[in-house]
Formats: sequence, structure tokens, C-alpha cells
Amino acid sequence: MATTTGEPPPATDRPLPSPSRRRQPALLRQMLVQPQPVLDELAAELGPVFALGAGPLRMVVLGEPSVVHQLLAMPTSAFRWGHPFNVIGFVTGPTSVIVSDGADWKRRRSPVQAAFSRRRLNRWIPTILQQTDDAIDALVADLDGGTREMDLYPIGRRLVLGIVVRTLFGSRMGERADEIGDLMQRPQDYLESPGIRQIPHPFPHTARARVKADRVAFDRLIDEQIALRRRDPSGDPLDVLEALVAESDLTDAEIRDQVVTLIGAGYDTTAASLAWILRRIPLVPGLLDRLRAEADAVLGPIGDGPAPDEGTLARLDLAERSMRETLRLHPAGSISPRQAAEDVDVAGYHIRKGTMILWSPYLAGRDPSAWDDPLAFDPDRFVDLTAEQAAIADQAWVPFGRGPRACIGFALAQIELTLILSRIAQRLDLTPVSTEVPEPRGMVVNRPTGGAPLGVAARP
Ligand code: HEM
Repeated sequence: MATTTGEPPPATDRPLPSPSRRRQPALLRQMLVQPQPVLDELAAELGPVFALGAGPLRMVVLGEPSVVHQLLAMPTSAFRWGHPFNVIGFVTGPTSVIVSDGADWKRRRSPVQAAFSRRRLNRWIPTILQQTDDAIDALVADLDGGTREMDLYPIGRRLVLGIVVRTLFGSRMGERADEIGDLMQRPQDYLESPGIRQIPHPFPHTARARVKADRVAFDRLIDEQIALRRRDPSGDPLDVLEALVAESDLTDAEIRDQVVTLIGAGYDTTAASLAWILRRIPLVPGLLDRLRAEADAVLGPIGDGPAPDEGTLARLDLAERSMRETLRLHPAGSISPRQAAEDVDVAGYHIRKGTMILWSPYLAGRDPSAWDDPLAFDPDRFVDLTAEQAAIADQAWVPFGRGPRACIGFALAQIELTLILSRIAQRLDLTPVSTEVPEPRGMVVNRPTGGAPLGVAARP
């Protein structure tokens, strides 16, 4: 840990470091398909703050932790999220909190955020553990006492989807988690397809038209659920949809967009993070055994342990650090875009209105000024930090963003990942099928190439 969290220098008109014009088209193309190799290459060459592209494709990448920190603390009015590059809006809908700005964003974010109160999150903990056990029970039954090489990524995805749908929208909607997964699959694949295929058009029989049709089908399902809650409220205090219907002033169209947003933003990201966890942990000698000992001590015997609560989570310290270390190196979003709605000064640079600003949790998590041996995977790096080291680590660990636009589901995702990891360590033996760290794959969501193939056996 080398640098301190200093004051930003005053802004000047000096140009941002930038690659030569000749290299720009190829770099830009790659950036819009698979950003991590370009981020690594340009950060090594130019430092973690640089510019790329020109004209309407003008972008600035900010990956230095103190600069990211400065950006995320600025007022939201200086930026726009409903910009033409925010392709997610096609799937989430135009009123989604993720693509909203100004007063509309505030009005929409407020009831959704209220639904994620700590009190409510803590009440989800037993459900999350129970659903994890149900998924592992099914897996163990399938193993039939043997060891099998299998990809745990799709199994983790299904589990995370079930958790998100059930915890947020109650068991009535949870029963339809598989149907929802099917309706989300094509839209998620579409968002990862080359930008050229995502240009808006009205033509039928295309991938875009099919995604639209999936959304219409999803809307029908949500409308049924809204009507059901009006007709026959479940009274379930954990049901976010019921809270949005009963307590917010959102229209039905707005509620539909927030439901799709919460499932879309909460499912693929968390499942990809789980896949990275499952790829990285078994590669560290002895780590799985340590996680298992911690889980045995804290969670107790399977099916017979104490009811888990926030105190249980607080004691899963190694699992939490392992999750933290994975997200440092492999944040679900490598870059997060916002457009400058006015001229802004950041990191001593003057950034003109209209520029796309891509702040990067991926670069901040690997910045050598903040992290010793940044590419080493070491959950113990967070232990026994001095106050200054802890402040530096905190500033450089931003997979969920910070400030007013920070991820609404940050606590839910961390609870899920910590509990699932602990329970898997407690109940399964995992053997890596390769000692290589996989390459990242995906522009919108960063997942490990090849998923999470492992040798899996039930723990005796
Ligand atoms: C490992 C899992 C996750 C990661 C890494 C992640 C990361 C992020 C990031 C980087 C942002 C953007 C912050 C910004 O632009 O400043 C974001 C926004 C958001 N996330 Fe997450 N997220 C995760 C899981 C979830 C979950 C579980 C939910 C809800 C169920 C969720 C809901 C949202 C929403 C609604 C926003 C938009 C907030 C706004 O624009 O006001 N995310 N997330």
C-alpha cells in the first residue's frame, strides 16, 4: 500500500494521455467487445487515467482509485445515465432507475432503495441459506456418492436467480423463477452481442424483435403479479413488489421496469461473481479447508445449526474476505459508464460535456499504487491493516460503485455470495480441473471463460 488518499490537483486544459490515432479504431472496437485486455494494455502504457476515441465516441477512462473516488462523490446532476450508449435500457425499459436522470431518477430510486433496508435484508438471510441447501441437496443426490466433473456456473446461476426472485418478490413469484430465467436469457445474451446488432431498428424476425417479444411476455407475468397483490395482498413484509404496489407512487409501467431491472441487475452479476469465486478459491492451497473449518464452526451441522442472522454473517470473516478479494480482481462490471451532462473537472483534467466517462472498478482493484502485488489472489491481504492502509483499500475497492448512484443490491449480493461460498465449502469437495486463471468474457457482465468446471464430490 503505497499512496495516500490525497486532494485532487486543480483542473487544467492539458490533454489526457491517449494512444496514437492509428491504434484508436482497433482499441475502440476491442473496448466495446471485451474491455479488460484494452484496460490492462492502456493502463500499463499510459497510467490508469486516459482518453480514447473522438467526436461522439469520445471517452475517458478513470481507473485510479482516488480519481474514481472523486468522480463518484460528485453530484449526479453533472452526469447523464439515460444516454444513447446505455444499451441496458432496451431490456430494462425506459423508466428503469438504471437509465433515469434528475427528478425522475430520485422518485424511482427512493422506493426501490427503501425496499433494501438492512432490517429487511437481515430477514432474508435464513431464506438464502435454505435455498442454497436445497440446490446443494439436489446436486448431492445427482452425484450419487461419486465424484463428477461438472460446470457449477449454470447451477449457481439457477440458485442466484431463485434467490433474487424469491427474496425480492416473495414465494408466489419465486415459483416461476425458471420461467423468468428463460425470459431473461435471450435479453442478456443480446446485451453481450456486438454493438452493431444492438442498433435500434423496427425489423421483425431479428434478435432485437425476439428480445422485445420476451419483454412483452415478462410484462404480462409481472402484470398478473401486480393484479394479484392488489386483489389479494400476501401480507409478506419481505415482498418488494407488494411494497412497490402498495406504498410507492410509481405507475404500473414504472413498477414493471423496476422489477425487470432488479432481476436483470441482480442475477447475472451475482452469478458471474459466484463463478469467479468458484474458479479462484480452489486454486489457493488450503483455502477451501480453512473456509470449511470456519463454516463448520459458525453455521453448525447441516439442517441442525442455529438460525442464521446478521451475527452469523459477521463471523464468516474468511468467506467475506474471499468474496471481497474475488470482486477486487473480477468485478462483475469492468467499466461503468456515465455521460458528462456539463463540462466537469476531474483528476486535474477538464472533461468536456458529452464525453462518455468510464470509471473502472477493474483498474482500481488492480492499481499497483493501492495494492501490494495486485494480481496475487490473497484473501488475507485485508487482515491487520493500519488505518491508512484500510482507507486506501476501501477507496480502491469499488465493484459496487459509491455515492448516490451506488448499486442498490450491494448488501444483498455480498450476503448471498458469502453464504453460498461458506455452505459450498462446508458440503462439497471441489478440485480444480485447470490451474490457469481463466480469461474474462463479456462486455456488460464479466464472467470467467468456460464457466466454473470443477471436480465435485459430496463431503463425507
Ligand atoms: C456482485 C453483484 C453486483 C455488482 C458487482 C453490482 C455492481 C453495480 C454497479 C457497478 C452499479 C453502477 C454504479 C454506478 O454507475 O455508479 C450498479 C447499479 C445498480 N445495481 Fe448492482 N451490482 C450487483 C448486484 C446487484 C443486485 C443483487 C441488485 C438488486 C437486486 C442490483 C441492483 C442495482 C441497481 C438497481 C443499480 C442502479 C442504481 C442507480 O442507477 O441508481 N445490483 N450495480
